[in-house]
Amino acid sequence: MNELLALQDISKSFPSPGGGRISILSGISLSLFSGEIVAITGRSGSGKSTLLSIAALLSTPDSGRILYSGRDTHGMGEGEIAHLRSHSMGFVFQSSLLLSDFSALENTAMPMMIQGMRRRDAMKEAERYLSLVGLLDRKDHRPAAMSGGERQRTAIARALAGHPFVIFADEPTGSLDERSAADVEDLLFSAVRDEGRCMLLVTHDRALADRADRVLQLSEGVLSDV
Ligand SMILES: Nc1ncnc2c1ncn2[C@@H]1O[C@H](COP(=O)(O)OP(=O)(O)OP(=O)(O)O)[C@@H](O)[C@H]1O
Ligand SMILES: [Mg+2]
Repeated sequence: MNELLALQDISKSFPSPGGGRISILSGISLSLFSGEIVAITGRSGSGKSTLLSIAALLSTPDSGRILYSGRDTHGMGEGEIAHLRSHSMGFVFQSSLLLSDFSALENTAMPMMIQGMRRRDAMKEAERYLSLVGLLDRKDHRPAAMSGGERQRTAIARALAGHPFVIFADEPTGSLDERSAADVEDLLFSAVRDEGRCMLLVTHDRALADRADRVLQLSEGVLSDV
């Protein structure tokens, strides 16, 4: 099997307001293979989002290595990391950052345009993904004119539209009703499994975690099988 993402011995601490440092991650190792979905659970404040942002190269660990398709990202230049981010990673985060001056359609098309796709083709593909998340009738709305759940579904459409091989999802269906959540979960899971991608999924939702191939719990800085 193809190892798409590997975390090796990742540690991270933050300065404590009272002085000293608080250790959040203590030597985490984890591999994700093609087609695989790994769910991370754990109490609020246990470090799940911290782990995700390190894996996505949005913040740096104190020590440890992060490999994409076997390539160590340490020592990669800014350009190489930006390329990796735009071509290989899709993000669905707790407060997904949509660009406020752009419509749902433009937000969804953005990663494909960054990858070099022609605007017209990117818009067409974006329409297809917005329709998959049930938002075609909101495609011209800007984020401020959408509900929280609609913004989240737009973020999911955007994450999938770029055809990334690693998807990072932090409570991806947290603000959706049961029915919409189930639809979006199905979409995310089949996008990963049918197309040989992988997903690192953070969730408090036990039922959602149980649909993953592996469920790991983060506690006291270490991951353990659930
Ligand atoms: N930039 C930072 N500076 C200092 N402490 C931080 C920073 N970022 C996170 N922390 C601390 O690290 C801990 C883990 O935070 P993190 O956001 O990873 O938790 P989480 O498991 O995602 O929680 P939740 O389920 O509530 O989203 C928290 O105690 C938080 O206060
Ligand atoms: Mg979090």
